[in-house]
Amino acid sequence: MVHSRLRCIYIFLLALGALCLCFSMYTLSSFKEEPFIFKKDNGNFLQLPSIDCRHSPPFLVLLVTSSPKQVVARSAIRRTWGRENVVKGKRIKTFFLLGASDNEDEMRVVAEESQRHRDIIQKDFVDVYVNLTLKTMMGMEWVHYFCPQASFVMKTDSDMFINIYYLTELLLKKNKTTRFFTGFLKMNEFPIRKKFNKWFVSKYEYPWDKYLPFCSGTGYVFSSDVASQVYNVSESVPFIKLEDVFVGLCLEKLKIKLEELHSERTFFPEGLRFSPCRFKRIVACHYIKPPALLTYWQALEGTLEEECPAV
Ligand SMILES: *[C@@H]1O[C@H](CO)[C@@H](O)[C@H](O)[C@H]1NC(C)=O
Ligand SMILES: *[C@@H]1O[C@H](CO)[C@@H](O)[C@H](O)[C@H]1NC(C)=O
Ligand SMILES: *[C@@H]1O[C@H](CO)[C@@H](O)[C@H](O)[C@H]1NC(C)=O
Repeated sequence: MVHSRLRCIYIFLLALGALCLCFSMYTLSSFKEEPFIFKKDNGNFLQLPSIDCRHSPPFLVLLVTSSPKQVVARSAIRRTWGRENVVKGKRIKTFFLLGASDNEDEMRVVAEESQRHRDIIQKDFVDVYVNLTLKTMMGMEWVHYFCPQASFVMKTDSDMFINIYYLTELLLKKNKTTRFFTGFLKMNEFPIRKKFNKWFVSKYEYPWDKYLPFCSGTGYVFSSDVASQVYNVSESVPFIKLEDVFVGLCLEKLKIKLEELHSERTFFPEGLRFSPCRFKRIVACHYIKPPALLTYWQALEGTLEEECPAV
């Protein structure tokens, strides 16, 4: 009796040991298999917009990262800053960057939306946060192949307010058309090593103690030549799932320096309270839900011609 119970414990411990061994081998091998460089897959788009950039090149292309589920946010953007627009005689076009969903219905809805609006760029990677770098690089690839004639590109997010009027004005004033990259500059950022944080990065993924300069992924703007150049070097820099940091690594390799767009702050990745006068003099504001976006946009457009008190 005692003997058989001992044997049971013995077998149990043996099994536990084997399990541990398997598990550690599994995690080790999954580390090894992780792609620590970005791999171009040249084409293979699931959805492409209809635009002929050769014959009517836009001045500014807005690329908005979005996921299949965010139908309402896309609709609000199409009715506000993402509407096809001409500002100071310059054409502005907005496109959405999407990954794939494993839900067939969602994929069907995206395909229909793409048919109707012709503004969706989609590839077959799983649309999850850790794949955001793939999404951004899809945008760079698209500009490189389909719209290098655009003057400028902005990469932004679907919970943003973008003042295309002020952005166009500032870009024209800046008058820098190549190797130009701007946004909310982050010159001194450190990797977050706390597990369970959304921005956690292991020492394995990024061994260095400090990030190279980059612009907040909530909204950055660049001359369109930068898209081709970033796409070109993307396979030769270490891969990191934080897309803005990754683009920063590419820019460092290309020796492209980040620049301020304006002497005053115009990018607000941490959000900003709305007032028409305040928002007239900003480019990008984060944390805007679709109903607020519609209201704010109406208020901005309704007061565009009005004077604001000098600050
Ligand atoms: C990211 O996308 C790739 C390509 O589809 C996929 O293999 C990978 O599992 C995705 N990552 C996650 C965490 O789902
Ligand atoms: C823009 O810059 C170019 C040279 O880079 C210059 O020739 C041109 O006059 C500038 N335009 C304006 C409006 O400042
Ligand atoms: C891509 O890189 C190669 C080699 O570094 C270079 O010859 C080529 O001009 C680059 N192309 C672009 C579009 O930057």
